[in-house]
Amino acid sequence: MGNIILIGFMGAGKTTVGRILARRLKIAFVDTDEQIEKEEGRAIRDIFAREGEACFRELETLQLKKLKKRKGDMIVSVGGGLPVQKQNHPLLKELGTTIYLKADKETLARRLRGDTKRPLLQGGSPEEKIGQLMKEREPVYEQVADEILLTEGMSVNEVVEQILHNRMK
Ligand code: S3P
Repeated sequence: MGNIILIGFMGAGKTTVGRILARRLKIAFVDTDEQIEKEEGRAIRDIFAREGEACFRELETLQLKKLKKRKGDMIVSVGGGLPVQKQNHPLLKELGTTIYLKADKETLARRLRGDTKRPLLQGGSPEEKIGQLMKEREPVYEQVADEILLTEGMSVNEVVEQILHNRMK
């Protein structure tokens, strides 16, 4: 089958969908954010605060390189900013099939309301930040993705079913 990589904006459901999908397919699940936090022994928030975003982006690229060496199929969910880095494009291509979980700005803003874990949304208006970042990132997600899944109005389980259904084709 090969690996499936879930990409999309913060709040798109990559981690939740990925975990269920992996369970259904009885394969491994890896979330690059979780992996980085585990290996660094601290929260992403702290990495951003102490070493800065550039350092975090390097850690993300390092994760992709490590994943490439892993054997066996897996579902990978990556942070919302990972596909934006050009150096990650060939790595994502080599790793497997990339699915973009696309959702509306309003839906994402609603899900991300009150979030304290994501450094890029802290301070000022989260709605404005989401709008700005979405404008920059959406074209990149669409360009990087092998498949685009419009998740608007769908439950987590429906998204999982849709991905499984598309695999059978
Ligand atoms: C980020 C998204 C986050 C996390 C970090 C930066 C981004 O992951 O990697 O806060 O740049 O969009 P999620 O997309 O899982 O929230």
